[in-house]
Amino acid sequence: MTEQEIERTSLRSRMVGGITSSDIGAELSLAGWVHRRRDLGGLLFVDLRDRSGLLQVSFGPDWTEATSLEGAHDLGPEDVIAVVGRVERRPEANPDLPTGEVEIRAVRMERLSAAKVPAIPVYRAPEEEPPSEELRLRHRVLDLRRPELQRHLTLRHQLILAARNYMDAQGFVEVETPILTKPTPEGARDYLVPSRVHNGEFYALPQSPQIYKQILMVAGFDRYFQIARCFRDEDLRADRQPEFTQIDVEASFVAPDDILRWMEGLMATLAAVAGVQAQLPFGRMTWAEAMDRYGSDRPDLRYGLPIQDWTAATTDVDFRILRAAVEAGGRVRGIRVPGGASLSRKQIEAVEAEAKSAGAPGLLWAKRTSEGTSGTIAKFLKDHHLSDVALREGDLVLMAAGADKVTSPALAATRSAVARVMGLPYETEHAWLWVTHFPVFEEAEGALVPGHHPFVMPHPDDAGLLDSDPVAARGLAYDLVYNGTEFGSGSVRIHDPELQRKVLRILGLTEEEIERKFGFLLEALAAGAPPHGGIALGVDRIVQRFVGAASLRDVVAFPKTTAARALFEGAPSPLGDAELAELGLRVVARDSSS
Ligand code: AMO
Repeated sequence: MTEQEIERTSLRSRMVGGITSSDIGAELSLAGWVHRRRDLGGLLFVDLRDRSGLLQVSFGPDWTEATSLEGAHDLGPEDVIAVVGRVERRPEANPDLPTGEVEIRAVRMERLSAAKVPAIPVYRAPEEEPPSEELRLRHRVLDLRRPELQRHLTLRHQLILAARNYMDAQGFVEVETPILTKPTPEGARDYLVPSRVHNGEFYALPQSPQIYKQILMVAGFDRYFQIARCFRDEDLRADRQPEFTQIDVEASFVAPDDILRWMEGLMATLAAVAGVQAQLPFGRMTWAEAMDRYGSDRPDLRYGLPIQDWTAATTDVDFRILRAAVEAGGRVRGIRVPGGASLSRKQIEAVEAEAKSAGAPGLLWAKRTSEGTSGTIAKFLKDHHLSDVALREGDLVLMAAGADKVTSPALAATRSAVARVMGLPYETEHAWLWVTHFPVFEEAEGALVPGHHPFVMPHPDDAGLLDSDPVAARGLAYDLVYNGTEFGSGSVRIHDPELQRKVLRILGLTEEEIERKFGFLLEALAAGAPPHGGIALGVDRIVQRFVGAASLRDVVAFPKTTAARALFEGAPSPLGDAELAELGLRVVARDSSS
């Protein structure tokens, strides 16, 4: 079928976006929304909008039937109309519009639906301020009409379609896993659904299909994928929504390289759809190196500014803060900013403020100009220090002293703040990176928690550390990072039920909890489990970064606010007494301070 045949319905012959000078003379019936109207008294122009674009419709006494012309004068923004007319060359072309060389001269026009005066404008003059996000979300039906959001959601569709086709071509089978499930530990709180039939019992919405996909491997599906909806009750930020979509992947008889290779192919395919560059293979860096050199497990490698270890170079710097930090087992690390001496004290203080909000007590700095060195630590640095930290004329060094746990996030924040304040030109626009060898466990408030989730296979070289020093054990786990955003995360899994039990015990679970929470997984693993592994990529984040949107809310049709509310439909909402009674629930007012 041609594009034009695809566009045709009983009520229209074409969509507007593809109409060009090659259509001049054609009689067409079109339908859509009144985007914008200019009434010049005798003549009247309407920009007609449908999903495909905009086209000028002109009404005039010489070619428009009288009743239609009269009706056209009454049209308001966002009315839905049908127009029959002939395509003509515009007396003056509009170079900003793909259809700008032509217009349709309306012979007949019918208003199919009248629109109330829109609460927020769909058409906005370039100089007009956009409405607040709250208003946009409240009036989502209007906001979604904006060509920008239509473009984002259409690209989202194209990316998901391309992902399905790619995974299918690699022999992966899409299997749907349940939405009403048992809790899956991904580190967030669960959304819970009460069972009406089983009073006092609850389903959990899946934080991910993690356990199901592993069970599918044990069941012999060999290669699974799913465009999976996930639900997490966690503090929301610009890069998090309470429900979101993953390209979820699992495969049997694999090592990390297999997953990385498939995902590089997938990302190259998706990037091509979006017109984004993805040079294969992607770079790789271990987690330890990422933390050491960039202070983050998802470094943005569009620019340099690596973290340097200046502990040795500064051993004889007579400065109390440095000495105390090193004596307490910490390090002196920092960033050298070539050209950074041009930053003002105020700008450096703004950078320091970001380091502080990332947890550092402060930053020490020195800059060197033709007039000498200045800054908080300048007077303590002797000539040999300047050469050891390579502080050359025109440069700035920023230092943090202390435990890596504190200084790493602070220096990561420093790095990105400096890049922003300096307006550093990127070395590349598209920095793709695999971060590998994530730790199996992390320490949080004195307890061990999973580095990711409790199913990550420890690195074979580190199996012995599980007993002696679990925090040091690296896992066969990897993250995909694009320009500093975590796109995806995965691992090879534990397939031996005894090792899985052991890891759960190390995490402090009792035998009873292990059985209750993970009994069904352990039973599956005991049924003959193939070595397996996988990954999940966040669709929302990928679309967001590919289109350059500021928030995930601009690539999701009906997103939630940061307070997890759906403003358009009004969710969540209270239940009536009868509904609560049927579920056997009673709402107990919670102290709002708790
Ligand atoms: P993880 O929890 O890292 O891994 O999630 C994988 C990817 O999903 C995206 N993501 C989100 N996107 C939007 N809003 C959120 N709240 C949100 N949370 C996560 C991110 C992230 O990289 N089962 C494991 C994967 C595996 O081991 O195979 C998992 O879910 O892009």
